Amino acid sequence: MKTVTYNGLTFKPFITSDQISKRVGEIAAQITEEYSGRNPLIVCVLNGAFPFASELFMNLGCDAQIAFVRLQSYCGTESSGEVRQVVGLTESVKDRPVVIVEDIIDTGRTMARFLADLKTQEPADVKVATLLFKPDALIEKITPDYVGFTIPSKFIIGYGLDLNGQARNLKDIYVLQQD
Ligand code: IMP
Ligand code: MG
Repeated sequence: MKTVTYNGLTFKPFITSDQISKRVGEIAAQITEEYSGRNPLIVCVLNGAFPFASELFMNLGCDAQIAFVRLQSYCGTESSGEVRQVVGLTESVKDRPVVIVEDIIDTGRTMARFLADLKTQEPADVKVATLLFKPDALIEKITPDYVGFTIPSKFIIGYGLDLNGQARNLKDIYVLQQD
């Protein structure tokens, strides 16, 4: 696989779409087993998590529903530190099992803020599924329940992850080349 360039930055192949699909299938199987008969609400955090949420949702073998929220904390390749909820949840989560689906947990600020908001709506329980997890960058105390890949604190793009809105449609995941 070749490198790709966005905004003058070069990215090299990191995780292939085959590896992603295999891992997403494993997480879907786990969620299917744990949530069978409970009809969980899968909450996809837009925009980045939509490819992951889609593949995960379509691989669930149990009854489930999907909903979408939008939050943002990034500008360019640096976390801005500011978390905003742009689009709220319209479905009622009260007394329902909820699985939040996120593309990546970096500082954990986005997830901490969202979890706090969600818990005021009294869901039955909440679990977090993230495709990627950067434990070295974590500032908030967040322990994701389902993790696709644990990765070092490097900037990545592809499979929903963007650089200023670009590169989300790459099928594979790429990492910023630092040399
Ligand atoms: P956090 O609030 O610092 O955990 O950041 C989470 C959000 O920042 C994610 O939902 C992504 O949208 C974005 N983000 C964090 N790391 C990366 C990255 O390496 N590439 C692209 N976006 C990222
Ligand atoms: Mg995101």
